[in-house]
Amino acid sequence: MSEHIQVRDAGGVREITFARPEKKNALSTAMYRSAREALEDAQVSPDVRVVLFAGEGEAFTAGNDLADFAKAAAGEASEPEAHRFIEALAVAQKPIIAAVPGLAVGVGMTMLLHCDLVYVADTAKLSAPFINLGLSPEAASSLLLPARIGHVRAFAAFALGEAISGVEAVSLGLANRMTSRDDVLETARAAARTLAGKPLGSVIATKRLMRDAAALARQIEAESHVFAERLTSEEAREAFRAFAERRPPNFVHLKP
Ligand code: COA
Repeated sequence: MSEHIQVRDAGGVREITFARPEKKNALSTAMYRSAREALEDAQVSPDVRVVLFAGEGEAFTAGNDLADFAKAAAGEASEPEAHRFIEALAVAQKPIIAAVPGLAVGVGMTMLLHCDLVYVADTAKLSAPFINLGLSPEAASSLLLPARIGHVRAFAAFALGEAISGVEAVSLGLANRMTSRDDVLETARAAARTLAGKPLGSVIATKRLMRDAAALARQIEAESHVFAERLTSEEAREAFRAFAERRPPNFVHLKP
């Protein structure tokens, strides 16, 4: 179990918290693994009826650890744990809730598309800047985001890296409700407790009917091939170098 993932069960709710606040809860390989194991275990634990994802401190998560991406780009490691986490989210049968206090970047945003209830703070900032990183969308977001908010807004999120505020997230149908940062976790917990009291068989059947699992699996598979190619591209390498060197990337001299 990663020290940066906290798992706590209470009243039928499994709370999985990204707990690496000094790195804005960026997700390392070990964190993906622990979060996935907690999520998968929730599916078979009779005492768990609802899963709630939260972030410690001010951020939900700054997404994939860019140092891990840089290693993968250099061929030193692959990203199977990130992929397995995404697959686990997509096939989870029990309902998933998210409490988003602030930044939700990359997978931090795209995983919200797999949550059944989303609560955001007025300080929330959702972004999926895959193109700024020389990458491409994952977690079936290339299917789910345009379906939810329309092609042009989704493209602006992916290509321009335009962030979506808490207010916008609610108006666009990406979140249920906005609260103050102080209240967001408690609001999500209250919803989780209510949901935990509902007939679970009916909740699971409804969730299954509302999601086209086969289409999601196909999209995740297709995205993962493109993503793997992009990860080792010169454009991605330049983006990761620029982040490490704290300078803006320069893509214009690179071949696509
Ligand atoms: N991977 C690894 N480390 C990350 C990270 C990430 N995705 N996001 C933030 N961090 C680290 C920073 O390197 C910094 O570490 P340091 O204090 O050791 O230098 C620390 O977290 C705080 O981040 P900082 O950039 O100083 O905070 P900020 O408030 O100025 O900016 C972000 C926050 C999230 C906007 C900015 O860190 C960022 O753009 N991160 C990358 C997000 C990203 O592209 N994720 C992948 C998407 S696919």
